[in-house]
Amino acid sequence: MRTPLIAGNWKMNGSVALINDFGQAFAAAVSPTSVEVVIIPPFPYLDAACQAFEGTVLSLGAQTLNPIHSGAHTGEVSGRMLKEFAVSHVLVGHSERRQLYNESDEQIFARLLAALSVEIKPILCVGESLEERDAGRTMEVVLRQVGYVMSRLEPDQRQQVVIAYEPVWAIGTGRTASPEQAQEVMAGIRAYQAGFDKQLAEKLRLLYGGSMNASNAAELLAQPDIDGGLVGGASLKIDDFYTICQSAG
Ligand code: PGA
Repeated sequence: MRTPLIAGNWKMNGSVALINDFGQAFAAAVSPTSVEVVIIPPFPYLDAACQAFEGTVLSLGAQTLNPIHSGAHTGEVSGRMLKEFAVSHVLVGHSERRQLYNESDEQIFARLLAALSVEIKPILCVGESLEERDAGRTMEVVLRQVGYVMSRLEPDQRQQVVIAYEPVWAIGTGRTASPEQAQEVMAGIRAYQAGFDKQLAEKLRLLYGGSMNASNAAELLAQPDIDGGLVGGASLKIDDFYTICQSAG
């Protein structure tokens, strides 16, 4: 009932050449049409990607956006600008932004609202640190991050949000949450959402992120509350990423 979504977060990696290689590979490949596939490259590659992905199943995402539309904010990019490159999704609250750039819940919420205002679907990233998991605080931390945003949205806005559960200890470490660990948290997020609206909770797309790769994707994606993946490292390798997309179909 929920269309699976596989999103490849390139972070500060890639090149125009890699964009073109992805475009060619996916144009030639038989991709599962039942899966939505989004590539999220750095800003400077959006234009090339817009052209290279035409006629393929690949759509385009962005890694962040500024909360306001325009103005004297050197180095920033707005949702309106992203919209000009047919960006359909944008990450907000990625743990690297929370940690390295001190993004607060309040700022994350402002970015998410900015995305909604230009009809770009936000992918809200949440997840606990290893310390928090070891202290038995996983659910508390994750639901606080989800709740901060969801409780402030109108019902029609909530429908547009995709949530990515990314345990911070699993990101880029090669250490993946077990399918059971991921399922437990994601079922908790869906149950929380059901507190607002049961039907909406059924439709909510939940992605797992954190060292998802070609070998472990199928097992993770088989879990009832995992509707897709937010893939970092493995999204830079065409064959691995394609395998992950196939596993979701
Ligand atoms: P990873 O990154 O797959 O390299 O762990 C995931 C992410 O940060 O989105």
